[in-house]
Amino acid sequence: MAQPLGKAYEQVAATQPRGTYRGAVVGCGRMGSTIDDEHIGMPHYPWPWAHAPAMIEARGIELIGAADVDRAKLDDFAQRWGVDALYEDYRELVAQEQPDVVAVTTRPDERAEVVIGLAEAGVRAIFATKPMCRTLAEADAMIAACKASGTILSIACHLNWYNWYTNARQAIADGAIGRLRSMVCHSPHTLSNLQSHTLALFRLFAGAPAEWVMGEMDDEEQAAAERDLSGSGYIAYANGVRGFLNSRADRSGHGWTLEFIGERGMIVSRNAHAQFELWGTHPETGEPIQRQFPNPWHPRSSMVDAIEGVCRALEEGEERICPGEFGREALEIAIGLRESHRQGNGRVDLPLADRALRMG
Ligand SMILES: NC(=O)c1ccc[n+]([C@@H]2O[C@H](COP(=O)([O-])OP(=O)(O)OC[C@H]3O[C@@H](n4cnc5c(N)ncnc54)[C@H](O)[C@@H]3O)[C@@H](O)[C@H]2O)c1
Repeated sequence: MAQPLGKAYEQVAATQPRGTYRGAVVGCGRMGSTIDDEHIGMPHYPWPWAHAPAMIEARGIELIGAADVDRAKLDDFAQRWGVDALYEDYRELVAQEQPDVVAVTTRPDERAEVVIGLAEAGVRAIFATKPMCRTLAEADAMIAACKASGTILSIACHLNWYNWYTNARQAIADGAIGRLRSMVCHSPHTLSNLQSHTLALFRLFAGAPAEWVMGEMDDEEQAAAERDLSGSGYIAYANGVRGFLNSRADRSGHGWTLEFIGERGMIVSRNAHAQFELWGTHPETGEPIQRQFPNPWHPRSSMVDAIEGVCRALEEGEERICPGEFGREALEIAIGLRESHRQGNGRVDLPLADRALRMG
């Protein structure tokens, strides 16, 4: 959601969900519960990151229960978050506690079964972490099941809600860099796992679906197999915007850089979203000139903003920031880039005909 301009109290009111929803977490491991323990001493990024504390902090939702097949994880969850409606079967959680919004933070291999089961049980909104799943057929089935039950499906590529990127999109909409022409990501990480964040952001910024891709994988043996892998690629979006993934990037861990390049300037995020720059064009000389990036008025955890966003999507009847279709496209691009490599680095049109293709 674009940051509304105006007075502080107006911003607070405009972003607050109107209702109060019952929230639950399925999968009480790192992403569901404990991942913030790993990030002590990373002050540039507003926490919490795990879904349970983000749900506690978010407005318009209360964390009321959780499910995990592992009883020890549930015990740890209870001790951390003070929740006692805990179940080893997510179906029982839904039947007993009737949550409105369920965060799915299991591993990707279980994702489709859990999401489809939740949709069929009538959950109103599902916030499922990335990567969406393993195969394109699973992604199709998840989207179809949610559509059939009227369930909002949001993919938790939470950078799509991070207010620095929200302000970057607003700056582009306001003409700060002219028409967006291309997006570049420098990152050595794997296509399905980490790059699902990049590809969901690309889709949001492009504002159009990807039509075709060309790719080169970093390792021949991995390119012939099904596991997640790193690689570079070119993505053609339907409206003429182009995306570039450069996997030959800095491996120091701070090398995740994104560039959004327009006709008259660019926005850059460096060091894994730590610094944002806005470059425009000097009105008289035409030279590049750095301008003040429109910093968020109230920098917050993207996971908190995302969970509030899911509640607002429930009220609006539509998820626009990261719907299931964006998660499926991220997987489809990753698989398409690998298909391109397998076929001699040529153009591969999307959607892919073979829905059994798998990554991870
Ligand atoms: N968005 C991010 O920034 C981010 C960061 C880290 C991990 N993740 C994603 O989160 C997902 C989980 O990763 P993790 O590291 O938290 O894994 P994890 O193994 O720590 O947690 C997964 C949990 O799911 C539980 N589980 C498995 N099947 C279940 C079922 N049917 N019902 C209920 N619970 C079930 C497991 O017992 C486990 O506790 C992965 O897809 C990963 O890519 C996302």
